[in-house]
Amino acid sequence: MLDWSPGAILWLKALHIISFISWMAGLLYLPRLFVYHCGVEAGSEASETFKVMERRLARAIMTPAMIASFVFGLALLLRRGFFVSAGGWLYAKLVLVLVLAAVHFLMLRWRRDFAEDRNSRSPKFYRVINEVPTLIMIGVVIFVVVKPF
Ligand code: HEM
Repeated sequence: MLDWSPGAILWLKALHIISFISWMAGLLYLPRLFVYHCGVEAGSEASETFKVMERRLARAIMTPAMIASFVFGLALLLRRGFFVSAGGWLYAKLVLVLVLAAVHFLMLRWRRDFAEDRNSRSPKFYRVINEVPTLIMIGVVIFVVVKPF
């Protein structure tokens, strides 16, 4: 278990918040790009532009931000005595965060389908998917800030 000074814990929380805000930005923007990408011809100039945008968003922002969210989150989690003293809110939060990570990997798979001109899903599908990270984020923030149980 880790013994962080009070000052270090504040820095870890700040870096944790910066990381998951960046991760959330990617999780909310990528499905929006998919919605527009569905509206252009495969092989067209517009489609090739969307492929570049989706690849850069996934590789330069979303995945590094997810890794940073986990690294700083785990650094906070592995504080001596934190896990045993935390209430049910922490387990509920971690379950939601793992669902968020599963959604992340599904988006990476859909990005590859677009990159290989193999997307078969509708814009309506991606509009619905676009709401999932928002709903999960609302639950996560309520659990970790309000700690309702
Ligand atoms: C990726 C895995 C994650 C782990 C292991 C993790 C773990 C933690 C831990 C242990 C804390 C400190 C709680 C406390 O001291 O009361 C924390 C704080 C927090 N986490 Fe996470 N978290 C993760 C992802 C996320 C995500 C994805 C979000 C938002 C969508 C989030 C939102 C927050 C918030 C708002 C705080 C409160 C910060 C504060 O008290 O100033 N976390 N997290």
